[in-house]
Amino acid sequence: MKLDEYMFQKVIIIEDELERLLPDEEIQPSTLHESMRYTTFLGGKRIRPVMMLAIGEIFKAETAPILTGAAAIEMLHSSSLILDDLPCMDDATLRRGQKTNHLIFGEDIAILAGFGLMNLAFKAVNDLHKEQSVPLKRIVEVVQQLNYAIGTEGLIGGQTMDLEGEGKTLTFKDLEFIHSRKTGALFNAAGQIACILSGASDKDRTAIELYTKNLGLAFQVVDDVLDVTADEKVLGKDAEKDTDKTTFVSFSSIDEAKKVAEELVEFSIEAVQRYGKKADILVQLANFVKDREM
Ligand code: IPE
Ligand code: IPE
Ligand code: MG
Ligand code: MG
Ligand code: MG
Repeated sequence: MKLDEYMFQKVIIIEDELERLLPDEEIQPSTLHESMRYTTFLGGKRIRPVMMLAIGEIFKAETAPILTGAAAIEMLHSSSLILDDLPCMDDATLRRGQKTNHLIFGEDIAILAGFGLMNLAFKAVNDLHKEQSVPLKRIVEVVQQLNYAIGTEGLIGGQTMDLEGEGKTLTFKDLEFIHSRKTGALFNAAGQIACILSGASDKDRTAIELYTKNLGLAFQVVDDVLDVTADEKVLGKDAEKDTDKTTFVSFSSIDEAKKVAEELVEFSIEAVQRYGKKADILVQLANFVKDREM
């Protein structure tokens, strides 16, 4: 199947799942719920959850638990976007083609909505036992993955170093360290959670880890390129937001950064070659990361 068609089909069920899990805006406190729903349902490519469903299919997993895990990852991702856009962080005005959350709801509610989404992601996973009879042992492992991914050794740590790196000269190694945490960690958790909920073997988990680690890093390198080259209308977010930061582009050049991304994408494709045709969507997804314009 072509990736476009695959994504189109999967995005529908991912959004239905998010709809099931997010509190209705009629429920008090309605402003908070409205704000949480606002960024979550603005759109977005849903690349992490789509990737999780594709991994589950390789291992012939039952879809429903992975769909919930995928929605949890997307909630954490949306939460990170709300916080990343705040005036004290990247001070962005545009996200997913619309005004950023704090411009609509105020910084106070935006911060609370970010935390609300983060918390809800863990609830969704915890409820997998009661609602879908997922064994507790698997749930504990999934929670560990989420904890680690957004923690000080993951997204939160990476975002801190990203902000502190502003105006400083960083090495290639520093940059790789930051990007693997602020963006790579969530990609990796997404892959591992899909494996855990599929009952995949340790060998399979290692192969998927190699895929997601390279892809996650490639994703942020391309994001740095797009920050400089893309049209804001297509990108759906403010361009040239990271010009005061060392990025893969400022470190070398647009062409060099593109080359790094290509290489990383090649590594990620190699990691799933062992699955042959079954990995077709993962291969297409990796190429999409390299060629994306938004
Ligand atoms: C943007 O992620 C933030 C980064 C980690 C670079 P995406 O490009 O996946 O954002 P959406 O979800 O499609 O809006
Ligand atoms: C942020 O990286 C990654 C996150 C953890 C949200 P960026 O700051 O480059 O993401 P965009 O470009 O605003 O989406
Ligand atoms: Mg940022
Ligand atoms: Mg940003
Ligand atoms: Mg960016």
